[in-house]
Amino acid sequence: MTNLLSFYTVPFSGKQTCFLTLLLLSTFSFIAICIFGYILYHEENYKFKLFEQNTSKHLANNISRKATFNYSECLRDEDFKSFKAIRSSKGIWTISPNGRFGNLMGQYAALFALARLNRKQAYILPGMAESLSQSFKLTLPTLNKEVKDKVPWQNYHLDDWMEEKYKNIFEDHIQFFGFPCSWTFYHHIQEEILREFSFHEFITTEVNSCLRNITAQRQNITYVGVHVRRGDYVYVMPQVWKGVIADRNYLERAMFYFRSKYKDVVFIVTSNGIDWCRKNIDASKGDVYFLGDGNESKPQRDFAILAHCNHTIMTIGTFGFWVAYLAGGEVIYLTNFTLPSSPFLREFKYEAAFLPEWIGIAANLSSLLNKNP
Ligand SMILES: *[C@@H]1O[C@H](CO)[C@@H](O)[C@H](O)[C@H]1NC(C)=O
Ligand SMILES: *[C@@H]1O[C@H](CO)[C@@H](O)[C@H](O)[C@H]1NC(C)=O
Ligand SMILES: *[C@@H]1O[C@H](CO)[C@@H](O)[C@H](O)[C@H]1NC(C)=O
Ligand SMILES: *[C@@H]1O[C@H](CO)[C@@H](O)[C@H](O)[C@H]1NC(C)=O
Ligand SMILES: *[C@@H]1O[C@H](CO)[C@@H](O)[C@H](O)[C@H]1NC(C)=O
Ligand SMILES: *[C@@H]1O[C@H](CO)[C@@H](O)[C@H](O)[C@H]1NC(C)=O
Ligand SMILES: *[C@@H]1O[C@H](CO)[C@@H](O)[C@H](O)[C@H]1NC(C)=O
Ligand SMILES: *[C@@H]1O[C@H](CO)[C@@H](O)[C@H](O)[C@H]1NC(C)=O
Ligand SMILES: *[C@@H]1O[C@H](CO)[C@@H](O)[C@H](O)[C@H]1NC(C)=O
Repeated sequence: MTNLLSFYTVPFSGKQTCFLTLLLLSTFSFIAICIFGYILYHEENYKFKLFEQNTSKHLANNISRKATFNYSECLRDEDFKSFKAIRSSKGIWTISPNGRFGNLMGQYAALFALARLNRKQAYILPGMAESLSQSFKLTLPTLNKEVKDKVPWQNYHLDDWMEEKYKNIFEDHIQFFGFPCSWTFYHHIQEEILREFSFHEFITTEVNSCLRNITAQRQNITYVGVHVRRGDYVYVMPQVWKGVIADRNYLERAMFYFRSKYKDVVFIVTSNGIDWCRKNIDASKGDVYFLGDGNESKPQRDFAILAHCNHTIMTIGTFGFWVAYLAGGEVIYLTNFTLPSSPFLREFKYEAAFLPEWIGIAANLSSLLNKNP
């Protein structure tokens, strides 16, 4: 400092030195005041900011409670991420409705699961909505018919069971085709599938009063839904598929299982061949009720009755499968109902069609073996 001052003092006179000193001093004080002020200001500002933060936090809370809906607060993290991904994907996926009630359910469930897996938004077509929404509280939106005609679809065939390649489908405009029903598509999200297929309340009320009606005085009944698929399968199975359908012996064995296991059992039978059932199902014990109307153009009623039972005896077909899946109790199904050479086995795998914990009873193929020695 002295060196510096002496450096300055040398060429200047006394007055000039005094002036320069004052100038320097005032510069230093100015800088000091600035620094001090800066510190003070920022301390104040800091407090102010804290206050501001508090206020805006309260405000934000108020606003978010009143005006906006924070999805992530009601969805789990993982759900929220996939929800966002699905909403921001530009894809539209759908599936061509094909076949009757059981097949439509299989198509819906497969579409739902595949779209979820690939994070695309799935829509159903009006034909599917018309049938399934009569029964269930579905959540997939329905695609308007005119929009459907304008989307540049890519057709995508689905096998009856889940394949590795379905986990990575990237196209944005997919229309699936096929008859996927297998649980291998969607059983990993069973809870959600069951939620998609939850009945409208008025149906549950109706069915329950119908079931209670037949067992009015008895408590703690175990209901077993029996679906006997006949109709076209009576000739299609042996003629086309080298297979058989359920016979009276199968139904007897299946009913014996439940009669032995549960104390007060009733069997609720629906069929599209109810006359055959009345002739071939032994109702002499008084525990068999032929409740279904078998109306194939209005299958929703029979379906609801069976699905509200506690356990299921199914024969063949996707209708029976879905009854069993929704009823959720014990399930007896007919298995090995085709000859090994059956072309049916190219499109159908027993292990992909029935859940491992269900109980299979092998079909009696003797009628086929006699015809095809
Ligand atoms: C901010 O809010 C907390 C409590 O939420 C309170 O203790 C604190 O004093 C507030 N700060 C200011 C600067 O108002
Ligand atoms: C938030 O809303 C409550 C009640 O509606 C109100 O009393 C409070 O003043 C609001 N807070 C702020 C910061 O607006
Ligand atoms: C919504 O809530 C989550 C979790 O509480 C939070 O992390 C996120 O910042 C919120 N988003 C908005 C926009 O408020
Ligand atoms: C209950 O049973 C009676 C007599 O069998 C019948 O008239 C009535 O319609 C039934 N009610 C229901 C809800 O099924
Ligand atoms: C009702 O029936 C079920 C199944 O048969 C049985 O497990 C249960 O103990 C019974 N409950 C009563 C109160 O009898
Ligand atoms: C079957 O259901 C259709 C559609 O609801 C109805 O028009 C028809 O009359 C029903 N048939 C019988 C035999 O009940
Ligand atoms: C059996 O099914 C009836 C009719 O849906 C239901 O009320 C009852 O709770 C079920 N019983 C059991 C043990 O699930
Ligand atoms: C059905 O056939 C398979 C293969 O031949 C056999 O492993 C299985 O035990 C059979 N199922 C029944 C219930 O007999
Ligand atoms: C299979 O069905 C034939 C009649 O078609 C019958 O004679 C035979 O006893 C049945 N076999 C079994 C194991 O039920």
